[in-house]
Amino acid sequence: MTMGERAREAQGSGDSAVKVPEFRPMLLSDVPAITAIEREAFTVPWSAEAFVNEIRHNHFARYTVMELDQSIIGYGGMWVIMDEAHVTNIAVRAQYRGRGYGEMLLRRLMQTAREQGARSMTLEVRVSNEVAQNLYRKLGFKQNGIRPRYYTDNQEDAYIMWADLASGGGTT
Ligand SMILES: CC(C)(COP(=O)(O)OP(=O)(O)OC[C@H]1O[C@@H](n2cnc3c(N)ncnc32)[C@H](O)[C@@H]1OP(=O)(O)O)[C@@H](O)C(=O)NCCC(=O)NCCS
Repeated sequence: MTMGERAREAQGSGDSAVKVPEFRPMLLSDVPAITAIEREAFTVPWSAEAFVNEIRHNHFARYTVMELDQSIIGYGGMWVIMDEAHVTNIAVRAQYRGRGYGEMLLRRLMQTAREQGARSMTLEVRVSNEVAQNLYRKLGFKQNGIRPRYYTDNQEDAYIMWADLASGGGTT
C-alpha cells in the first residue's frame, strides 16, 4: 500500500493519525511559518529574505506548501529549468515526520515538475542524511556524483541524486 493509499484509508476509517494533506503554491504570507520549519529542519537554514526573493523574483522557482487543517506541516521547492527540475529544499515539521507526509510531498513536487515539462529531477543531500536518501531512493532517485565539502557548516560532502521523471519516477 502506498503512503497516499494508507492516508486515504486512515481518513475513511476515521483514524486521525494520517490525514490527507492539501497542497498549494507558497505565498509571501507563508514565509514566517516556513522559516520556522526551516530552522527546525536545517543546520544552515534559509533566511526569510531568501524565500521572499524566490517567490517574488525567481521565475524558475516553484514552491509548494503542504497543509493539514489549514496549518503548514511541510514545504518543498525546486527550480524548473527547461527539462530539468532541481530541488532546493524539502522539509516536514518534526512532529509530523515518519507518517508518509514527506513521501506525499516529494511525489507532489515530481508531479508538478512533470507538468512543467521536466523530464528529470536532481537534488543534493548530505552523505549523513540517510532518512532523506531512503525517501529519495524509494521514489526512484539514484546517486550519481558527489559535491565535495558542499555544506559550509561542517564541510560535509553532498551526494548528487537524479530521478528520471519521463519514465514515471514517483508515480507508483
Ligand atoms: C526527509 C524528510 C522530508 C522525510 O519526511 P517524512 O515525512 O519523515 O518521511 P516519510 O514518513 O514520508 O517516509 C518516506 C520514506 O523516507 C524514509 N524514512 C522516513 N523516516 C525514516 C527513518 N526514521 N529512518 C530511515 N528511513 C526513513 C523511508 O524510506 C520512508 O519510506 P517507508 O516508510 O516506506 O520506509 C523529513 O525527515 C525532514 O523534513 N527532514 C529534515 C529536513 C531534511 O533533511 N530534508 C532533506 C534535505 S536533502
